[in-house]
Amino acid sequence: MTKKQPQDLRSARWFAPDDLRTFGHLSRMMQLGYSEDDFRGKPIIGVLNTWSELNTCHSHFRERVVDVKRGVAQAGGFAVELPSLSVDESFTKPTSMLYRNLLAMETEEMIRSHPLDGVVLMGGCDKTTPGLVMGAISAGVPMIYLPAGPMLRGNYAGKILGSGSDAWKYWDERRAGNISDDEWLGIQGGIARSAGTCMTMGTASTMTAIADAMGLTLPGASSIPAVDSGHQRMSADCGRRIVDMVWEDLTPDQIITDGSCRNAAIVAMATGCSTNAVVHLIAMAKRAGVGLKLEDLDELGRNTPLIANVRPSGKDYLMEDFFYAGGLRALMKQMEDRLDTSCMTVTGKTLGENLEGAVVYNDDVIRPLDNPVYKGGSLAVLKGNLCPNGAVIKPAACDPKYHVHEGPALVFDSYPEMKKAVDDENLEITPDHVMVLRNAGPQGGPGFPEWGMLPIPKALIKQGHRDMLRISDARMSGTSYGACVLHVSPESYVGGPLALLKNGDTVRLDLPNRSLDMLVPEEELEARRKALVLPEPRFERGYGYMFSRHVTQADQGCDFDFLETDFGKTAGEPDI
Ligand code: FES
Ligand code: MG
Repeated sequence: MTKKQPQDLRSARWFAPDDLRTFGHLSRMMQLGYSEDDFRGKPIIGVLNTWSELNTCHSHFRERVVDVKRGVAQAGGFAVELPSLSVDESFTKPTSMLYRNLLAMETEEMIRSHPLDGVVLMGGCDKTTPGLVMGAISAGVPMIYLPAGPMLRGNYAGKILGSGSDAWKYWDERRAGNISDDEWLGIQGGIARSAGTCMTMGTASTMTAIADAMGLTLPGASSIPAVDSGHQRMSADCGRRIVDMVWEDLTPDQIITDGSCRNAAIVAMATGCSTNAVVHLIAMAKRAGVGLKLEDLDELGRNTPLIANVRPSGKDYLMEDFFYAGGLRALMKQMEDRLDTSCMTVTGKTLGENLEGAVVYNDDVIRPLDNPVYKGGSLAVLKGNLCPNGAVIKPAACDPKYHVHEGPALVFDSYPEMKKAVDDENLEITPDHVMVLRNAGPQGGPGFPEWGMLPIPKALIKQGHRDMLRISDARMSGTSYGACVLHVSPESYVGGPLALLKNGDTVRLDLPNRSLDMLVPEEELEARRKALVLPEPRFERGYGYMFSRHVTQADQGCDFDFLETDFGKTAGEPDI
């Protein structure tokens, strides 16, 4: 299937001509210690490595890059490692989401400006998958995604711990006075005990599953635990395969299509995906010119059974169990009839071919379609006078008694204000109240933080309540759960109707009918609209300034408007 010859390589632009510029490039390669035999006429593979000493989920990438390079060399290519912005979920303030687009920009420009014929993208922690993939789609060279893989199951005192989900759960118990300092320390040490991404079906596992289902990883790569020796072998395989992809000229536009984006969305729903997937999937699809909409995702969410019994939407298991049960290939095999199996993938084969022979080894972890964890509704999209452009909720992760609910609003304008109230044991609140946090969207957060799982007020916790209806224009962590309406669009900070809501207004959620409204007469809303004063922009300089002027709203994917594919003409290849 060879389509390219050495003279056709993109890198030949830097290294082939007999001129002064080429002399410069070649002499600098010699400065790096390479002979022409090492790289001239070979596919040059950029290995974009998002390792850093503060990225807990990618701590094994320093070793894995060696495996990738080994694979590249074996297949006759030449690998160069390019350290890339390491957007980590654990430490980044105000929120890693502020930097997803920065990583996407860096990725695109790093590829475009360097003599690279293909790339291996090393990522996994939440925003790194969409960031790397969005940038690489726009750059357009052959790419393969190397997912970091989930960390091992958490463990403390004979109990299995799940990333995020159990942190929230035990924190509520600690606030209720049920957990000692020593126990708390034990949980702290046991909940994250190896390299790798969060091992619940949070944003990281959802996004790597999406990349896998889209055909951007080696088949099933997203399920391999980070510290399994299979992860090393997969890394070397990525290196070997990308070299062939360059010769085959297998570019991302042949892989990311209407069909593969739809496949990715269906698979995400079947895994009980993180709500964040919606935002990233729309942004990734848009980069590839695919018009995936929030409404499409609602329809897929309604009709796709949740068959991965992995927390937080599933009840019992974690990603390590999912891998032992056959992993994502087995899950996709199980629902093959619903997927477009003709889609091309990085293997050069179709999705259908990649799924041949995949087997489910434990049908309690990967359920058959007729015995799902939840019949449908991993994710639902709401509309109404509170969210004219949409909001999302995860029906599978909330108590069904909130699916149709009416109650008085208790509104907070900022996170600190809300935090103070929830810690107040004498707060006047009932389980019927609807807690609302605004100014937490893409502009207001700023950066669209994961504040959407608003803590249950202490006053209610003490009475034994663990869930209530909550609404915000924020996101929530993929490992969170509860009756939380998120991504209200347009956000309040830019004048969305959430800004008009007042304490005591009745809010009504009707999940079966997909509506979310404030029951306030239109004349009254009009008066409030007239009186509304919009807050000042958050940033006056720097990256944040650019962010706040160009980020799109949640329902649009939060990409920068000028990075979207149809914004204008892309700068061509360098001709100097
Ligand atoms: Fe990196 Fe959860 S903190 S995946
Ligand atoms: Mg997360």
